[in-house]
Amino acid sequence: MGKDVIIACDFPGKSETLAFLDKFTGRKPFVKIGMELFYAEGPDIVREIRSRGHKIFLDLKLHDIPNTVKSAMKVLSRLDVDMCNVHAAGTSPMMRAAIEGLTRDDGTRPLLIAVTQLTSTDQKTMEREILIERPIDEVVMSYALNAKNSGLDGVVCSPLEAEEVHTACGWDFLTVTPGVRFADGDTGDQKRVMTPLEANRIGSDYIVVGRPVTKAEDPVAAYERCVREFCD
Ligand code: C5P
Repeated sequence: MGKDVIIACDFPGKSETLAFLDKFTGRKPFVKIGMELFYAEGPDIVREIRSRGHKIFLDLKLHDIPNTVKSAMKVLSRLDVDMCNVHAAGTSPMMRAAIEGLTRDDGTRPLLIAVTQLTSTDQKTMEREILIERPIDEVVMSYALNAKNSGLDGVVCSPLEAEEVHTACGWDFLTVTPGVRFADGDTGDQKRVMTPLEANRIGSDYIVVGRPVTKAEDPVAAYERCVREFCD
């Protein structure tokens, strides 16, 4: 598992997504398919992007009772994706059920990672709205340890937390970090952000980058800038 840049393909439909991917002549970036695209196009969009040779992170953030998550993961296990995820807030029994559902009859499965706290949530919002009064990094670490102890492969977390997650859970426990912005770019609704270069230095395994690439005037150049800063 090497370091890689994952592009969040947050597009409303197939035509916009494929037009975007067509710009990458000769390159096959690792692609994240999230709720918007999956709900619009269904599993066929996963098969289509896969058949074009991209690795896929299917970001559906499952969060429900263990039995429901297990059954849903069984369905997703039939799609040939590389990574998928659940919310750690669903707790350990749900995460263990997710692994069970995702594991195919031959014992293989995609990587399974857990969302800790969304990078759009900050300490104040967490206290006011979710009524969690502990420091956000303590909450993230506790979720990460639950994920690790449930057999998951890593977490989605802010790049600001990646180093601490590695210290607590080991360096082979993956950190997948959205909330990435160029030093000279807008932060938008992301509250806990870092540049690709900083994310590299603190040891993120994968960065997930959406708008800084998808909304760039030259998306390929923006992607290549991410790769240069993060992977070199
Ligand atoms: O456009 P931007 O770079 O903010 O996109 C970040 C992507 O990462 C979005 O698809 C968002 O859903 C996802 N994500 C996130 N924070 C998390 C988990 C996933 O921003 N904690």
